Amino acid sequence: MGKITIAIDGYSSTGKSTIAKQLARALGYVYVDTGAMYRAVTLFAMRKGFIDENHKDVEALVNTLDKIELTFHYNEELEFSEMYLNGENVEKEIRTMEVSQFVSPVAEIEAVRNKLVAMQQEMGRKKGIVMDGRDIGTVVFPDAEVKIFMSASPEKRAYRRYKELLDKGEEVDYDEVLKNVQQRDAIDSDREFSPLRKAEDAIEFDNSDMGLEEQFERMYNFALRVIGKQ
Ligand code: DC
Repeated sequence: MGKITIAIDGYSSTGKSTIAKQLARALGYVYVDTGAMYRAVTLFAMRKGFIDENHKDVEALVNTLDKIELTFHYNEELEFSEMYLNGENVEKEIRTMEVSQFVSPVAEIEAVRNKLVAMQQEMGRKKGIVMDGRDIGTVVFPDAEVKIFMSASPEKRAYRRYKELLDKGEEVDYDEVLKNVQQRDAIDSDREFSPLRKAEDAIEFDNSDMGLEEQFERMYNFALRVIGKQ
């Protein structure tokens, strides 16, 4: 049976990566978390002092983009691919609130997007891939056979992210997480280059009140139907 491309887009903390991982595992496909790539570039920019609360040096970051090597390495124990920045495993560090604060301003830089989109398209050249992000169905793979657009209320999403961070032992405040979710939504949706929007042919999926199992069943069956038609 022919392999397809599955593009999953949507607002932050809608559970895109959870469903993408489940689908990839069930189908034997590769899963790519494109948010991790934007987060790794952000971490690089923070470490170099190109971005902080008071400034963003776009030129300096753009001029050093070719010094950023991003790779995914599969972790057999965790059963997913971890993000490496110039050979260093940064999987934990890129998930902190600090990186979350700066990632949207970095992701709106055109040269950053061009570099990462080209890498993502190369990864998906042979299909058999589930990719999640903000512009996968619109820009990276406009011809993807399955496009899903995920949404849920900001409060539900903030609560999920809050619990996730607490579970990881980070000290966080719910209101701060909610503010971050809302700010990221706004920047991601209003930016000039490939803003977050639903592709015309994407299926919208609001999981505010849906359990993980039901969500997976629905999407998996949908993907199987599409694959069956290939
Ligand atoms: O999915 P995430 O929360 O880890 O993504 C982090 C940020 O990266 C998000 O605020 C927007 C940006 N992003 C993007 O602009 N395009 C993508 N394809 C993926 C993420």
